[in-house]
Amino acid sequence: MDSAERGSSLHYTQASADRAYLVGVEIRGSRAPFSVEDSLDELTLLAQTAGIQVVGRSAQRLARIDPATFIGKGKLEEIALALPAVGANLVIFDDELSPRHQREIEKVLGEDIRVLDRSALILDIFAQHARTREGALQVELAQYEYRLPRLTRQWTHLARQVGGAVARGGAGGVGLRGPGETQLEVDRREISRRIARLREELEAVRAHRLRHRQQRVRSGIPTVALVGYTNAGKSTLLNALSGADVYVADQLFATLDPTVRRVELANGREILISDTVGFIQKLPVTLVAAFRATLEEITDADLLLHVVDASHPRAWEQIDTVEDTLAELEATRIPKILVLNKIDRGDCCQDFDFGALGYRDVVRVSALQGWGMDELRSAITRVLLEDLVMLRLLIPYQAGEWIAAVHSRGVIVKEDHTESGIEVVARVPNWLAGRLEQAGLVAH
Ligand code: GTP
Repeated sequence: MDSAERGSSLHYTQASADRAYLVGVEIRGSRAPFSVEDSLDELTLLAQTAGIQVVGRSAQRLARIDPATFIGKGKLEEIALALPAVGANLVIFDDELSPRHQREIEKVLGEDIRVLDRSALILDIFAQHARTREGALQVELAQYEYRLPRLTRQWTHLARQVGGAVARGGAGGVGLRGPGETQLEVDRREISRRIARLREELEAVRAHRLRHRQQRVRSGIPTVALVGYTNAGKSTLLNALSGADVYVADQLFATLDPTVRRVELANGREILISDTVGFIQKLPVTLVAAFRATLEEITDADLLLHVVDASHPRAWEQIDTVEDTLAELEATRIPKILVLNKIDRGDCCQDFDFGALGYRDVVRVSALQGWGMDELRSAITRVLLEDLVMLRLLIPYQAGEWIAAVHSRGVIVKEDHTESGIEVVARVPNWLAGRLEQAGLVAH
């Protein structure tokens, strides 16, 4: 089953047929890093990426979110009246709506208008862009998990809608109503069953991928992960560094599945670089968590390159969002280099103290023009391979591969064979120090 076929019944949007009206709120006194207008600009880009035409927008400043209708009821009624004039058939809220909000808003807007939120829109885009089997499975799981608590009249008879996909998956019994069950209950049961099956399938695919990863880890080649806000230019940079041909598009979330490339540094030294899913503000962590495959590339990396679109007017806020997400992923221990990209168009960050944010280096590049690639390669070499760290290690005799790695990559200062293993004092490159620490071999 290909991903398009798999995802089609779950799509909230209908691309070219959809004309959307966007709604955002600003909570008075809140310290949201993006203003409501900036956030709506970004939502417009997201909608366009999904192939939707944006025909209008509205923002409201509120003291607090209305527990029933999210925005004020009066404002919502005003929007309902404005929709026919612009020919909108879809209203997209810039924040995640609770299932209750969704129901109440649908009541006010009426049968003909579909109601979406930012998360559902991002899920649709993810579904369009997943290319590998694992990516497609992850998106489908996230879609069902998002939908389960939100089944309303717009999504009843879902069992019939997803019937094809479920039947192909072999769940059986689709749409068969038990005694006294409403259609909604049937749909819920069907979705729960489908979620369970998807989790099982995903585990199998993951187990397979992890075996490959372990081989890579043992190969002793340091790995570097590209992270950054969506559209920062990560794929373009990967192409520029590796001479490979990774899909690049002026769209949000063009990259969903991890892509790994071998890159040669000076003196024939090699690293593996992986491209990962772009981050975005207001992306629910649960949704981020659905992309374990690409996130594992981040948390297991020996070095992070944080790629920033330095020409973007909100570059600062984007840097903050990425920093926050890295903290949520507990990836703050990994050394990182800040790569200010697109300097052919502008430079956000002339006088900034990057050391304060924990960066080992900052490099200005234009991935598109190929500017700054040598400087970037040198910075990677320095941070990853040349900055040596002095460590005291206790390595059990059976962990032969670690002893070999320390000997071949590091400089041994002292070595003693004891009863419990080999005690080594050595100077090793940063990336290896991180792995030895993770493996619990560093004596403190
Ligand atoms: P996601 O997949 O959304 O995470 O995006 P990404 O970070 O991989 O960005 P991608 O490489 O797809 O580039 C996004 C857009 O920025 C494309 O239109 C690129 O051509 C453009 N771009 C990338 N690097 C540069 C650069 O150095 N200068 C300019 N002017 N444009 C660039």
